[in-house]
Order: sequence, then structure tokens, then C-alpha cells
Amino acid sequence: KTKVAEQINQIKNQALLGGGLNKIDEQHKKGKLTARERIHLFLDDNSFVEYDMFVEHTCTNFGMDKQKFPGDSVVTGHGLVNGRPVYIFSQNFTVFGGSLSSVHARKICKMMDKAIVNGAPIIGLNDCGGARIQEGVESLSGYADIFQRNVLASGVVPQISLIMGPCAGGAVYSPALTDFVFMVEDTSFLFVTGPDVIKSVNNEEVTREELGGARTHTTISGNAHKSFKNDIDALLQLRHFLTYLPQSRNHPAPIRICDDRSDLDVLALDSIIPLEPSAPYDMLDIIHCIVDEREFFEIMPNYAKNIVVGFARMNGRSVGFVGNQPKVAAGCLDINASVKAARFVRFCDAFNLPIITLVDVPGFLPGISQEHAGIIRHGAKLLYAYAEATVPKLTVIVRKAYGGAYDVMSSKHLRGDVNYAWPSAEIAVMGAKGAVSILHRNESDVTEYVNEYTEMFNSPIPAAQKGFIDDIIEPRTTRWRLCRDLEVQATKKLVNPPKKHGNMPL
Ligand code: COA
Repeated sequence: KTKVAEQINQIKNQALLGGGLNKIDEQHKKGKLTARERIHLFLDDNSFVEYDMFVEHTCTNFGMDKQKFPGDSVVTGHGLVNGRPVYIFSQNFTVFGGSLSSVHARKICKMMDKAIVNGAPIIGLNDCGGARIQEGVESLSGYADIFQRNVLASGVVPQISLIMGPCAGGAVYSPALTDFVFMVEDTSFLFVTGPDVIKSVNNEEVTREELGGARTHTTISGNAHKSFKNDIDALLQLRHFLTYLPQSRNHPAPIRICDDRSDLDVLALDSIIPLEPSAPYDMLDIIHCIVDEREFFEIMPNYAKNIVVGFARMNGRSVGFVGNQPKVAAGCLDINASVKAARFVRFCDAFNLPIITLVDVPGFLPGISQEHAGIIRHGAKLLYAYAEATVPKLTVIVRKAYGGAYDVMSSKHLRGDVNYAWPSAEIAVMGAKGAVSILHRNESDVTEYVNEYTEMFNSPIPAAQKGFIDDIIEPRTTRWRLCRDLEVQATKKLVNPPKKHGNMPL
């Protein structure tokens, strides 16, 4: 008996050391924490419950039978974040470079299965040299088992990937299937084929960082939603991020007791829109004035900056915000902005988070490159996402709402629940100059027509007369009105017609 107890102790201690002290040192020298340090920093104190510390890989090729590490190359289990359960896997780079063996995959799948049935988020801390090369196809089957679960879990529980080291080859497709991908600056990278393969096949030279570092994916490719300075910053921010999310599709959005009064006018809102109708301003200024404690967790802050999306609270209730950003490309909708916002709207809808949309959009971005790259198909994604969404949808047109973009941006016509306009709103088919140049194309002096068109459409009154706008409100009243509306909408029940699934334009 004592022998077994000793053996158990020995195996557990060995599992705690992963690939050994030298490997742990190497990990630290790269500026990275170990898989276990990350888990302990991320979870509430003493809340980690570990699974499968005794599991070993089963490979016998290339002398692998002599190199075994209890727990293999991933640490898995569940724990609490601010008192709420999450399932977590943390790949252990100190064991075979965190590479994915078939048992590594099985450990992850076990957690995913539990997260789905118990209704808790799945957090993946990725730091992995890819498929375990010595295992061959067994390892590849392990990846597919994870992909399959990522897809089944989609829309059931939130799935979040934090890339904290390498993630290359087929491995990238698990994070890609999750709801949010975050990266650590300088120490993480994501790519399907690395610099060496690109050099030999395409004869192109590129560094790992340029090809797939945090900056690349948060600014150019849009594959990652946000990046953080280092492991500690990333893990603490991820804890904060989770406070906005429900545990699963069956849970309501979380409510946090709020000290910020939600029954008062916010005077600063009256002076944000510039007097000059085409002058830029920062949509974030409006959002900060509306939300609790001026606290806004922006998603993809450096990608498609002409649209702003992110999470905030309104009188304690978690909500998603979407706003056109007049500071960048006049807030036009283009392909990247449409796709960014569409995915965000779908996440909110899947997880019962009401959506507040702030509109100042002069239309879709004109241009041959946009048309040829498929703005029709991609713009339709945002339209589809809003039209499909059954969560409470609250919209405020703060300035321009032109053309098809007016319809797309959570208009009344797409089952908007509450649609307000500020007195500065202009709701029209297009801007006055554009309209007149079409209606009166052969006339030289069009000033009078421009004035006439402007007078007719540069106010929200015609739209309100038709009931497309429920009320025209003073900007200062926006916060308390939206908070009050969200209370009323909290019991909203709207169900789309039964179907296997829709066929959104991809
Ligand atoms: N399978 C098995 N072992 C792997 C591995 C894999 N896919 N990836 C890394 N390792 C091992 C390395 O052999 C090394 O072992 P050692 O310490 O016993 O020598 C250890 O993990 C650390 O790897 P190392 O290459 O020293 O770390 P690095 O930080 O310099 O580079 C990578 C990390 C991921 C860039 C590099 O290991 C790599 O290119 N791996 C292969 C990636 C790949 O093509 N995977 C298959 C496609 S999915």
C-alpha cells in the first residue's frame, strides 16, 4: 500500500515538473510562463481541479517508449474565474515542445465534452509545436477530434483561445474555430505554413513575427481579436473579459451590481457631434459616456477601425456595442468592417447579449477593389447577422444613416426593438451632393437643389413620421433611456422559423 502511495506521489511530482527544470528555465528565458504557472495565475486561488495527470503517450516509434512524462504535453482541468467555473487546457511546451500526441488530444477532448454538457466556457492556452511528429497520423486524428468538438461547442459555450507560443500548421484551425483568439506580443505566432516552407515554395523571405505575430494578426489578417504585452497581462485581461460573458447559451448574460447611476442625463453627450456635418469625431467618446463606469472592452481595436465593436455594461447588464467610427474612412462600411461586426453580432446573439448599435454611416465604401473583392457578399454577412439576431436590439442614429447601410445597421426594418435618432441624424438614400448630381446631372447651378434635398433629409423627422424611428431624443438622455429599455427588453422572446441551419453568405 505504502509503495503504491509513494508511486502516486512520485508520478504527481513528476507531472508537476513537466519536461524538467532545464526546460522550465528555457521557457522562462523566452519570457514565457509554464503551462501550470499560467493556470494558477488565471484561475481563482486554489480552485484548479486537475484531470489526467497520469496519462502517458503511447508512441513507441523512434525510441519514444523510453521518453515518457506523466500528463504528457498538456495540463487540463477546471477551476473558477471570479467564482464562475471554466474548463481549461494549457499546452506544456516543456514536454516535446507542447506537441499534440493522441493522448494530448484526448485530454483536451475530455474537457471540451464536459464543458459542453455542464455549460461552462472552454479556455485554451496554446503553446505547441504542432502535431507530434513521431506519432504520425494518430496525432492528426487527434486534431480532427478537437476541431469536431470546437464546431459542436460553437454557440453552446464560449470558446476562447489565448496563443502564448507557437501555433502552426493544422493546429491553427482549433483557435480559428473558437469565438475569440487573443495573442501575446513577441512570444506567440500563428501560421499555416512557416517562413521556411514559404521560402522554399514561393521564394519569399519573411520573419516569423511578420508572417504570423500578434501585430500581423490583430492589424492585417484579422485572425486575432486582441493582443497583450506579456503572459501576465494576457491572463489577467482574460479574467476580466470573462466577466462580460454568460457561461453558456442557456445562461442569461451576467449582471454586476453597478454604482454608476443609470437614471441621470449625461451632459457631455450633447457636445460630441461636431457642428460641421462631415467633421470627424471619436465614436468611442459616445460609447464611454453611455456605458457604466466608462468601461468598454473593445474587440479588434486595431483591425477595420472604421467600425467599433466590444462589450460593456448598462446598469450592470452585459451588452455588445457596435458603432460606426467617423474618425476612420468616415465610418464607411467596407468588407473588413462588415465581417468584423457580423461575427461580433452573431456571438452576442448566440449568447443572449443585447446589442446596442450607434449609427453614423455614410454608406458602403465605393471602389473597384471593394466590389471585386466581394463587398456584396461580405456586406450581406452583417445584414444577415442583424436580421437573424433575436436578442434585444437597440439602435441610436447619431448622425448619418445613408442608403443600404441605414438598413443594415440594426434598422427598425430588421426587427429593431428600439430605434432612436438624435436631432443631428440625417436619414437619406445618399448625401445631398451625390443625390443632386444624379437627379440634376445636366444642370450647372445645383445649389438650390442641394439646399432643398438637405432640408428634406438632414433631419430625422421624415423617418420618425413613418415610425421607422420610435423617438427623437436629446443625446444627454441616451444612457438612461437605453438602460430603461434594456430592463424592459430583458424578457424578450423571439424565435426564428425552425430550420436545420440558415445559409449565411460566406
Ligand atoms: N513533435 C515532436 N516534438 C516537437 C515538435 C513536434 N511537432 N515540435 C517541437 N518539438 C520538440 C523539439 O524536438 C524540441 O525537443 P528537444 O528539446 O528534445 O530537442 C522541443 O520540442 C522544443 O522545440 P524547439 O524546436 O527547440 O523550440 P523552438 O522554440 O526553437 O521552436 C517550433 C518551436 C514550434 C517553431 C519548432 O519546434 C518547430 O518548428 N516545430 C515543428 C512544427 C511543425 O512543423 N509541426 C508539424 C505540423 S502541425
